[in-house]
Amino acid sequence: MKKGPINCINILCLNLYDAYTMPKIVCGIIGCTSDENVVPEVLGGLKRVEYRGYDSAGIVVAVNGRLEVRKGAGRIEDVEKRLKLSSMKGKTGLGHTRWATHGNVSDRNAHPHISCMGEVAVVHNGIIDNYIQLKEELLKRGHKFRSDTDTEVIAHLVEEELKAGRDYLHASLFAFKKLSGQYAVALIFRDMPDLIVGARKDAPLVLGVGKGKNFIASDAIAFIEYTDKAIFLDNMELAEIRPERIRIYRMEDGREVKKSPVQLAWEVADITKKEHAHFTLKEIHEQPLTVRSAFYQDPSKLRDFASSILTAKSVFITGAGTSFHASMLMAYRLRNEARIRSENFLSGEYRQFSQWFEKGTVVVAFSQSGETADVLEAVREAKKKGAMVVSIVNAVGSTLARESDIALPLNCGPEIGVAATKSFTAQVVVSNLVVDTILEMQGSLRNRADEKEGEILSRAVERVLECESQVKELVSMYSNKPDFYFVARGYSYPVALEGALKLKELSYIHAEGMPASELKHGTLALIEEGTPVVAINPSGENHSDTLSNVEEMVARGAHVIGISDEASKQYTHFIMVPKIESKYMPVVEVVPLQLLAYYMAVERENDPDYPRNLAKSVTVK
Ligand code: G6P
Repeated sequence: MKKGPINCINILCLNLYDAYTMPKIVCGIIGCTSDENVVPEVLGGLKRVEYRGYDSAGIVVAVNGRLEVRKGAGRIEDVEKRLKLSSMKGKTGLGHTRWATHGNVSDRNAHPHISCMGEVAVVHNGIIDNYIQLKEELLKRGHKFRSDTDTEVIAHLVEEELKAGRDYLHASLFAFKKLSGQYAVALIFRDMPDLIVGARKDAPLVLGVGKGKNFIASDAIAFIEYTDKAIFLDNMELAEIRPERIRIYRMEDGREVKKSPVQLAWEVADITKKEHAHFTLKEIHEQPLTVRSAFYQDPSKLRDFASSILTAKSVFITGAGTSFHASMLMAYRLRNEARIRSENFLSGEYRQFSQWFEKGTVVVAFSQSGETADVLEAVREAKKKGAMVVSIVNAVGSTLARESDIALPLNCGPEIGVAATKSFTAQVVVSNLVVDTILEMQGSLRNRADEKEGEILSRAVERVLECESQVKELVSMYSNKPDFYFVARGYSYPVALEGALKLKELSYIHAEGMPASELKHGTLALIEEGTPVVAINPSGENHSDTLSNVEEMVARGAHVIGISDEASKQYTHFIMVPKIESKYMPVVEVVPLQLLAYYMAVERENDPDYPRNLAKSVTVK
């Protein structure tokens, strides 16, 4: 395995990311076949893809002429302990971690699923649209179902094809051809214990090429510990995986496709928590590096991106969740500095704006995963109406990146914590590069020195991370409060929204972010003795107005935590952030808020990496 500093990886990943795909429908798959026991590999891989879904988990191995399945509802660690997964043994096995779509969260609906005769086991990521019809037909033919999932039909279909006398590959191929919808599927067989068959349509699958040991997974991070050679399956490809060889076929006509493995540029360190207690904390601490990597952009792509906005008849900017907050910052700068009118909308609300999508319109989409259903729906509607779609996305191999006319990468490496942290700060950097390029084209910005800016920003993030102990103190004071408010003006307003979102996601404390100017129009009624309010108030034109609002709140009993590059006695508590160029202030302002949410979650005994009810990539509307 190669060793090297993380920033090298991120430069390399301009390439790598073309192959890096993130979830379409959440759920994680891992499979391994070898001449030795593969359960440690399957179990380890399962834990790595847990970010994709975590309501149930299970493993199947082909052993002693049967398929042994252990599965159940709950996080992998719980299922592992309860069902003693690590005591299983087998030379070929599959694992699955689930985020329920069809069928409730229960032991019976956890994957893997087995066919009636116990010949075939299946794990699946996606949705089989025609499963009801398929299930009815299979029931009529006498098949017995043991779950309420759409997935189980696949095992029965393959069994039918085997009964018809087809070999394992053809039986799988014929069964897959009957499916409509999205799927990444892996199968193992009782009577062919050195074979895994996998196939994909609109959901990611990647093969790991090892020595006498091969893998299949939803994400290469599942096997990077064992091999850094990967083959990315394309849509409608089927893979035959054996310990010593891998073959790939086109599902359309069964013809073999020759594909060479690509060398992955990740380090194991990228997908482990290292010395940190959680991925979220690790990702917060990675930001001095990731903000710098975000500056590595292809100059001609950046110029094309900028000029598409500059020459557009109208500009729309969109995203969901944290990505929407980053998109607000771009819209702000375009309006205020480049004097380009831009409409900013939440992707799920695109219908309010779609009547203006037409030829000459540009839609700028922000997304970490590139797979968020709301975002994809908005940009598809825009494309349908003739608009150009440009995107800022972390997963360059994702659907959004592929469907965009131009996609700029974030280069921040895999983000595993469900709550977005380093992807937000990278989004701010990349959108600033776009706006600066536009300003340069307009002639109002000269002598840009991105490298120097990257260095300064990286050092500023390092400095602001030093507030950690101060944040911990605040957490010990306010962790039992039911409500938090986050206020700011102008360019820091999206940071207030982001601070509130982080706190809700991780701590489950109710939080609201709003413009400080709005307090007097209602929310002030909720301020009472001891109510915590975070005021993000950088020096500059809005500073004194927000300070007046701080006084108004303190007069009504609020405890105001000021976050600024300028200290003021009005705040109850104060976190100093470094003064940097105003366009980068959100990057340093958000770090204490990320830490606040993280430590609040820890204090309240929540798992910050896997907040309840949420998923990293929401691929349903
Ligand atoms: C989910 C995640 C959020 C994320 C949002 C948008 O809700 O839990 O953290 O901000 O999706 O995701 P995207 O991948 O499009 O940035």
